[in-house]
Amino acid sequence: MSMDFKGKTAVITGAGSGFGLALARLCAQEGMNLVLADVQADALDRANQEFAGVPHLSQRLDVSSGAEMATLAAAVQQRFGAPHLVFNNAGVAFGGLLWEASEADWDWVMGVNLRGVVHGVRLFTPMMLAAAKADPLYRGHIVNTASMAGVLNPPLSGPYNVSKHAVVSLSETLHHDLALVTEQVHCSVLCPYYVPTGIADSHRNRDPGTMTRATASQRVSHAMAQKAVSSGKLSAEDIAAMVLASVREQRFWIFSHPHALEGLLRNAEDQVRGLNPADPFAAMPELNAQIRGALRA
Ligand SMILES: NC(=O)c1ccc[n+]([C@@H]2O[C@H](COP(=O)([O-])OP(=O)(O)OC[C@H]3O[C@@H](n4cnc5c(N)ncnc54)[C@H](O)[C@@H]3O)[C@@H](O)[C@H]2O)c1
Repeated sequence: MSMDFKGKTAVITGAGSGFGLALARLCAQEGMNLVLADVQADALDRANQEFAGVPHLSQRLDVSSGAEMATLAAAVQQRFGAPHLVFNNAGVAFGGLLWEASEADWDWVMGVNLRGVVHGVRLFTPMMLAAAKADPLYRGHIVNTASMAGVLNPPLSGPYNVSKHAVVSLSETLHHDLALVTEQVHCSVLCPYYVPTGIADSHRNRDPGTMTRATASQRVSHAMAQKAVSSGKLSAEDIAAMVLASVREQRFWIFSHPHALEGLLRNAEDQVRGLNPADPFAAMPELNAQIRGALRA
C-alpha cells in the first residue's frame, strides 16, 4: 500500500541546506509535519523562518552524537509520535590521498556520514515498528543518503568512499531485516552523483581545532569536487522529487544519474573476472595528466 503523506511526520537531518532543505520543502508541500535537524545554526534559523507556518520541530545537533540524536528522538516522540518518513541525510565530504587523512579527519567523516545514519536507524526504527504494531494502517519509510561513492571507489576520496559504502551496506541489510519483521516499514538508499549544494564546502561545519593544513592532494581533490558539484545539471529539488517518488513506489535503490551506473557494471564484471580495478580517468586523458602532474610535482 503506498503512503499518503498528509498530516504525517518527516524527520530530516541536514535540513538546513541542499537535499535536506529541498526534502523539507517538498514534505511541507505534501502537508507533513517537519522535524528539522542540522549542526549549522544560521542555516537552521533560516529554515525555521521559512517553515514558520508548518507544524515543525527543529533541533541543532551533531548527528554523530548518539546522545544528541537520542534527545531528538525523544522530542519527536513527545511532539508528533513515531515519524513516518526518516531522512538520514546529513553528510560531509572530504578528499585527498588516502594515507594523508588524519585520525581526526576519519573520525569526522565516519562520525557524520556513518554514525549519524546508524543513530537515526537505531533510534527511529523501533519507534516506527511500535507504531506499525499498534496500527495496521501505519506506514513508515527510512531513506539513508549515501552517494555514487557508496557503490564506486573514485580516487582521492578515501574516507568519503568508505563511509558511503558502509551506508549502502547498512541500508541493504536494513531492507532485509525490516522484511523479516514487517510489511509496514520500508527503506531506500539514495545514491546521488554530483548536484550543486553546499557539500564541497563541508568543512564550514567542522571544528577548526581538529583540522590540519590541507595537503596538495587535498587541495586538488577539493578543487575537483567544487567544479564537479557546481556543474551538476540536476538540482537538489530534482533529487528530492525523485526521493519522494521512490518512497511512494517503495523502490530501494535511488540512483539520480543512471548513466553513472555503467561504471558499476564494469566494476562488477572486472571483479567476477578477477581483473584489477580499471583506471577511472582512462577516458579523460587531459584530466588524468593534470591530476598526476599536480600530485607528482
Ligand atoms: N551534492 C552532491 O553532489 C552529493 C552527491 C552524493 C551524495 N551527497 C550526500 O547528500 C547528503 C546531503 O548533502 P548536500 O549535498 O545536500 O550538502 P549540503 O552541505 O548542502 O547539506 C548538508 C547538510 O548537513 C549538515 N551537516 C553537516 N554536518 C552535520 C552534522 N555533524 N550534524 C548535523 N548536520 C550536519 C550541514 O550543515 C548541511 O546543512 C550528504 O550525505 C552528502 O554526502 C551529495
